[in-house]
Amino acid sequence: MTDETAKTTHFGFADIPETEKAGRVRGVFGSVASKYDVMNDAMSMGIHRIWKDAMMDWLAPRAGQKLLDVAGGTGDISFRFLKRAGSGHATVLDLTEPMLVEGRKRAEAEAMAASLDWIVGDAMALPFEDNTFDVYTISFGIRNVTRPQEALNEAYRVLKPGGRLMVLEFSQIPNPAMQWAYDRYSFNVIPAMGQVIANDRESYQYLVESIRKFPDQETFLGMVRSAGFEQAKYRNLTLGVACLHSGWKL
Ligand SMILES: C[S@@+](CC[C@H](N)C(=O)[O-])C[C@H]1O[C@@H](n2cnc3c(N)ncnc32)[C@H](O)[C@@H]1O
Repeated sequence: MTDETAKTTHFGFADIPETEKAGRVRGVFGSVASKYDVMNDAMSMGIHRIWKDAMMDWLAPRAGQKLLDVAGGTGDISFRFLKRAGSGHATVLDLTEPMLVEGRKRAEAEAMAASLDWIVGDAMALPFEDNTFDVYTISFGIRNVTRPQEALNEAYRVLKPGGRLMVLEFSQIPNPAMQWAYDRYSFNVIPAMGQVIANDRESYQYLVESIRKFPDQETFLGMVRSAGFEQAKYRNLTLGVACLHSGWKL
């Protein structure tokens, strides 16, 4: 028998017991929920919108598809997906209820209410049967999950045969000089912006640290393949600041 309490994981640059991570992550996103959308635009200078649109370009949603948007937060991916598909259904699942509450307040949520479900849940233990969804997305979510490989395994389980996985996440910049410049920006500017806009420096300090701890493009590609996905590939966005990983359950 393994002692579950002895296992540790990272929370930003800190090592903590695995059993504490989900609670800490819920604390971060519960705290920033009401300012989350404003902060996204401020921190990325609007670029997160371009990345999310690039995700849709590669995904090419089709009419009638059923999407599971894990760590879906305030709904950015699901809204885009339904707009592009024209018809279909999206389930937004998230660990942090206040994020879903903010999402439901958005004008798009009202306009698309009949095509949307909002569910509190954990990426590592999805409350759905096998072979349920056509598409699984997780955008800026998987680096917060305690055991990302388990989330990928769950994605594979709930997708139908022929279903598609698409992950959008911060990644590592292959060019060291650019990585240095990017680190200066993220470690100096983002926590300060979090303090001014959301009155919460610590949550944004966690954000930048968690980005640095996330596996690089090739390592994560191996994890996507280990979950069973085929034709797994990735595309860098903005020189590797972010990255899209795609895979198919065939
Ligand atoms: C940075 S936000 C991303 C929200 C949205 N997908 C986007 O791209 O704007 C990360 C979200 O992941 C959620 N999250 C973290 N760990 C999770 C888990 N284990 N299961 C489900 N959601 C999780 C958080 O609650 C938070 O809402």
